[in-house]
Amino acid sequence: MFESIFFKKKILLIIGGGISAYKVLEVIRELKKNGSEIKTILTKSGREFVTPLSISALSQNKVFENLFDPSNESEMDHITLARWCDVLLVAPATANLLSNFADGKASDFATTAILASNKPIFLAPAMNVEMWNKEINLQNVEKLKKNNFRFIGPTIGEMACGEYGEGKMSSVDEIIFTLKNYFISKNQKKKLSALVTAGPTREYIDPVRFLTNESSGKQGLEIAKSLSEIGFQTKLILGPNKLNLKNLSDLDIEHVKTGDEMLNACKENLPVDVAVCTAAVSDFKPKEVFKNKIKKDNLNTFELAFEKNGDILSFISQHNKNRPKLVVGFAAETENYIENAKKKLEHKHCDWIVVNNVKDSSIGFNSEFNEVFIINKNNEIEKLSKSPKSEIAKKLAHKIFEKLHNNVGNFN
Ligand code: CTP
Repeated sequence: MFESIFFKKKILLIIGGGISAYKVLEVIRELKKNGSEIKTILTKSGREFVTPLSISALSQNKVFENLFDPSNESEMDHITLARWCDVLLVAPATANLLSNFADGKASDFATTAILASNKPIFLAPAMNVEMWNKEINLQNVEKLKKNNFRFIGPTIGEMACGEYGEGKMSSVDEIIFTLKNYFISKNQKKKLSALVTAGPTREYIDPVRFLTNESSGKQGLEIAKSLSEIGFQTKLILGPNKLNLKNLSDLDIEHVKTGDEMLNACKENLPVDVAVCTAAVSDFKPKEVFKNKIKKDNLNTFELAFEKNGDILSFISQHNKNRPKLVVGFAAETENYIENAKKKLEHKHCDWIVVNNVKDSSIGFNSEFNEVFIINKNNEIEKLSKSPKSEIAKKLAHKIFEKLHNNVGNFN
């Protein structure tokens, strides 16, 4: 069993007054399960939504409410509490709390702790869409961002009041992912490196015609982004795609077209700590590429001869000198997917294989969602249930980090 990155991390949680406060109980539970220590400040309006009893039962710690409560342990004033923690999380961060923080108020336990803090502060806003979009609120948000407050969401969705739009508190998973990203990247004393292949390849017949497949490259891009977010030096070798690649300055992307180009780019980018091969590389390529456009004039039938493309995953997995510590393959299957994936894991000598059923059009190729099973060499299987590809990517990136972190020993 791996030690979670949350183990012994100290989190000061401020719970504001909003209907989504109930979700924060789940956040506490998840963090506790992973070994965090949690202390909580409950605001006066927060108390209208969740009880101190349920919070202290889950956090196994006292809940702080009144700044001048004589029953507070003498050493636990707002300053000591702010120094005690590794990070602060405010959830739900109401419009009122954002406004107070932006004004630098020190009028209760929550605002004084925030003002006294010298640690990273994460805010998970939750409010009605009109409140979120009010210019005055957006100005507060801007001011807070300029002052290094970190925002988790909000997201767009149906709200408790029945209206729809931006202002909904981020999901429990998203809050946990963000904190986890922070702790992982902080933990990387020596920067780990990653190589990710993604997208389809094009195998040219002549200068304007080629064979390709349905792969969008989305899942691979998300994995590269997630690895980069948690501090991996990440190289993405990307086949032809229609992805939005704006605002990805942290990611080193090399564009390739053919399987041969992808293989060569991978060779040039070894060694790395982890390789993740998500690309749908064409298995075959035409034996001959015509120099000029093929004319149909003199042809009634036309036959093409193919030869096998080099297998990039197998090449990396079996590299004598530069085999990455962890090699992850993907398997796109339409039937018997667990069995077929296990065979691929064995034949290609990788450490994990991530399999998805591409026959189901609601997941896999071209979909925003995915559902995968991660299989390791001991035939252990972990399911990542249907969720957006970005979430699957974060979970896989965290799992990769935890594996390297626990095996390599030169971290922490
Ligand atoms: N792969 C690769 N190079 C190739 C073919 C596949 O690196 N020339 C990698 C893929 O990136 C993926 C894994 O091998 O990580 C499995 O790919 P997949 O397309 O599912 O299977 P194939 O090996 O192509 O076998 P088949 O098409 O027969 O299922």
